[in-house]
Amino acid sequence: MCGIVGIVGKEHAEKIIISGLERLEYRGYDSAGLFVADTQQSHLIKAQGRIKNLSDKLTQDVQGTIGIGHTRWATHGKPSENNAHPHTSENGRLVLVHNGVIENFEEIRQQYLANDSFYGETDTEIAVHLIAALMEQEQLATKEAFQKAVQIIQGSYAFALVDKEAPETIYVAKNKSPLLIGIGENFHVICSDALAMLDQTNHFVEIVDGETVTVTADAFQIEDAKGNLVYRESYEAQLDLTDIEKGTYPYYMLKEVDEQPAVMRRLIQTYEDEQGNVQLDASLVEELAASDRIYIVACGTSYNAGLAAKKFIETMTHIPVEAHLSSEFGYNMPLLSKKPFFIFLTQSGETADSRQVLVQINQLGYPSLTITNVAGSTLSREAKHTLLLHAGPEIAVASTKAYTAQIAVMAILAQGVGNYLAIEAAQEMDIFHELSLVATAMETMISEKAVISQLTEDYLSNTRNAFYIGRGNDYYVSSEAALKLKEISYIQAEGFAAGELKHGTIALIEEGTPVLGIITDALTGSHTRGNLKEVESRGAKTLVIVSEEFARPTDQLVLPNVHPLLTALVSVIPTQLIAYFATLQRGYDVDKPRNLAKSVTVE
Ligand code: M6R
Repeated sequence: MCGIVGIVGKEHAEKIIISGLERLEYRGYDSAGLFVADTQQSHLIKAQGRIKNLSDKLTQDVQGTIGIGHTRWATHGKPSENNAHPHTSENGRLVLVHNGVIENFEEIRQQYLANDSFYGETDTEIAVHLIAALMEQEQLATKEAFQKAVQIIQGSYAFALVDKEAPETIYVAKNKSPLLIGIGENFHVICSDALAMLDQTNHFVEIVDGETVTVTADAFQIEDAKGNLVYRESYEAQLDLTDIEKGTYPYYMLKEVDEQPAVMRRLIQTYEDEQGNVQLDASLVEELAASDRIYIVACGTSYNAGLAAKKFIETMTHIPVEAHLSSEFGYNMPLLSKKPFFIFLTQSGETADSRQVLVQINQLGYPSLTITNVAGSTLSREAKHTLLLHAGPEIAVASTKAYTAQIAVMAILAQGVGNYLAIEAAQEMDIFHELSLVATAMETMISEKAVISQLTEDYLSNTRNAFYIGRGNDYYVSSEAALKLKEISYIQAEGFAAGELKHGTIALIEEGTPVLGIITDALTGSHTRGNLKEVESRGAKTLVIVSEEFARPTDQLVLPNVHPLLTALVSVIPTQLIAYFATLQRGYDVDKPRNLAKSVTVE
């Protein structure tokens, strides 16, 4: 959701910015723009739609040694060239890009900018006009006006500002939206995500909320909100350029689906010690073991992963688990238990809905753990503990390998806590052995692409809607399967608890409606089969995804058997591929579905 890149001190800043913006495409955007300058000239270019539209507008003379670029995901004002960033002050001198949402933009307009006229409809334009107004009205230098403006502005922001009259400095500031400084030889970069600038450097410095940074080719200076200088060590990004390239794959999503067995094996390597025990921070295990209830807080696919891990955690630890949607939990907090422990599940580590809950939890003084794919992300920094997913960058908007990695990491955690509490079920479990079986089972399902593609065509090619049904964990996987299908293929898909159909939803079943049943549980499988029969007799076209041990000859997709509490890790694979093929067959962009952003940094 919106992306910022910038560079100072290197020839052809325009090319570096375009390629950085391309690497931020995965975040989701609907317009893009850049500003480049050197001592002789400056250029501001914007385009609606894809970055290609922007790069097509760059003529030979568009060059610079300093520049900032932006991909915009519309919040205030529709997607258009006018609303695309960078925005300029009324006198044209200041150029600004912004991620986030300015909450008090109306008050700022009335108090400081009553006589200004605006070019577009964005809150960002208010910010750049404010900085210019402070320079004019209070005779402040650019840096001081910028620092004063960020004190006035309320909301979330990552800002990058250039003053055309001194085009050798980028001023940046951040609050709740991600932004990093990258260190190069005689140049510096800025970016929302290290991925964007990995071809320039792999040494980065974090910026903390409320800080401003003055970035030039040779140096950068961080100041806190009171103007004190801050020194912070750089870190080396543990990322490889090949991690973020598609290679021979047509889409990132397919690559990421295929990577899941390797991710399982990487998690085993990471979390198993030489004796075969779970290696986790002792204080994390002790705090979790001392809690009387675990609250998992997450959004979208991460929430679905929380649901799918609930039974495993409860069985291994005997601690009750509740999974909650962040956007609901934050504003309707349930009555909490006496010793709660909070787990924030978030692939990106930047999701604003989840972060607002973490802020409240920290204020209440409760212990927290963020399970994330991104080291150093906001939720990782702000929670007491972090566990990493080690899934490698997930670029496709549709989350796949992060979902399975989240479930696996929670299972490893539950095993560690269960062992510590000497729970019998945990002592009888060898999670690393079970995950290695899962990895092999995943490979089997991944090798069924041709069959899955054909089934997808047979069942979903002409449909407007589709249903996934299941019970228990199969219901939770149904919810995830439906989310995947709808977000990229735009088929109206819903995941239902199979037993609930007859209480209302069955009214939607018509001749030919696809109903896909997931069956991996001994206790409930026969009931789900009964529910499939009910819809079949009302015209539905049913497809069964079933564990080998419960399979019948007429079932369409048979899953290798794995531990009964880990079946979600395998049953989800064909549903990811069904979503992928349905999208391809309809001719849509698999990796960049409409209206969606990868990293959702606004509430
Ligand atoms: O980065 P997060 O895991 O916090 O993101 C949460 C959701 O926005 C995300 O899972 C979303 O639902 C995916 N696009 C689903 O594929």
